[in-house]
Amino acid sequence: MKINFIDLQAQYKEYKAEIDKEVFEVFQDATFIGGQKLANFENNLAKYVGVKHAIGCSSGTDALLLSLMALGIGKGDEVITTPFTFIATAEVIALVGARIVFVDIEQDSYNIDTTKIEAAITSKTKAIMPVSLYGQCADMDEINSLAKKYNLMVIEDGCQSFGATYKGKRSCALSHIGCTSFFPSKPLGAYGDGGAVFTDNDELAQKVRMLLNHGQNERYKHKYLGINGRLDTVQAVILDVKLRHFDKELKLRLDIANRYLKGFENISNLYPPTIKADRDSVYAQYSIRLKGRDKLVDFLSKKSIPTAVHYPIPLHLQEVFANLGYKTGDFKISEMVCQEVVSLPMSPFLSLSDQSAVIDAIVEYAND
Ligand SMILES: Cc1ncc(COP(=O)(O)O)c(C=O)c1O
Repeated sequence: MKINFIDLQAQYKEYKAEIDKEVFEVFQDATFIGGQKLANFENNLAKYVGVKHAIGCSSGTDALLLSLMALGIGKGDEVITTPFTFIATAEVIALVGARIVFVDIEQDSYNIDTTKIEAAITSKTKAIMPVSLYGQCADMDEINSLAKKYNLMVIEDGCQSFGATYKGKRSCALSHIGCTSFFPSKPLGAYGDGGAVFTDNDELAQKVRMLLNHGQNERYKHKYLGINGRLDTVQAVILDVKLRHFDKELKLRLDIANRYLKGFENISNLYPPTIKADRDSVYAQYSIRLKGRDKLVDFLSKKSIPTAVHYPIPLHLQEVFANLGYKTGDFKISEMVCQEVVSLPMSPFLSLSDQSAVIDAIVEYAND
């Protein structure tokens, strides 16, 4: 039997009646953009995360882009983030015309090393964009206090961490602005692209709402240079159904992570994810680290066990960012992790027998 890396078909089967009903209603109403159902979903999102404003938008990338635009960040400004993330985090900084300043990650959490941020701050720094990678929040308290000291804004890239908690609060409610992605494979995934911006700040929320709708405050009155960055209503109702089941799914993800952790406990030189005591992870990815990763990937592939590498090349070594002048050796932890990390099948619908098959195969590989 084939093991799925993420089983979205099983999830649809489980919620089919609810999803079909909601989607059918949108088709009948023909309110495909905006409307009450989108507003309801945004209210539910805001409540879930614990912020005043949740604004649905077209993707996680656009959520980050809209946040930078709303803060007026652009040419001549610098934004700090890590080179061990998905390209979108850095891409949007460059797209608004600002300079990307990379800071290396911690070896255990893979999130930004807050002890290295201060050295990267200059008079041009406007914001820090920490990434809550694989589903675990970065050290947001330390980041927020540095931001306060230097008068910077903090945008959490929570594209992988929707639902995660940090000291009792949810990811995306931990800084000036939080952003998430509803890409289908994310913990809360749409049936297409989607994302959201979260903030307690009324002014920023209003500006993001205008920016994602061509900068208009009234129809055909354009105050800002904006984009078409709306979340469509079909996605909103699907996400609203999935949100009802989300906590149950997070629990199932955690159970699988604990089973993996136990299964790998006797393998030396294999590092399972390290989750800090004051937070949890939603395991958007369950990523282990070991030397000779590519050999393990090959071994698992021969047993039809799918894996993925998030991410094989750190962003400072990507061709698109060559103009920034970084070179190999600049961010040693990120470079090492890119060589060693591999993500294993993870989804609330991964059967017990599939979980065992993954564990057994890795134990077999380690004993070989
Ligand atoms: C860390 C991170 N940032 C940003 C994004 C961009 O999200 P989207 O694919 O919805 O544009 C992703 C999603 O893949 C991500 O994992």
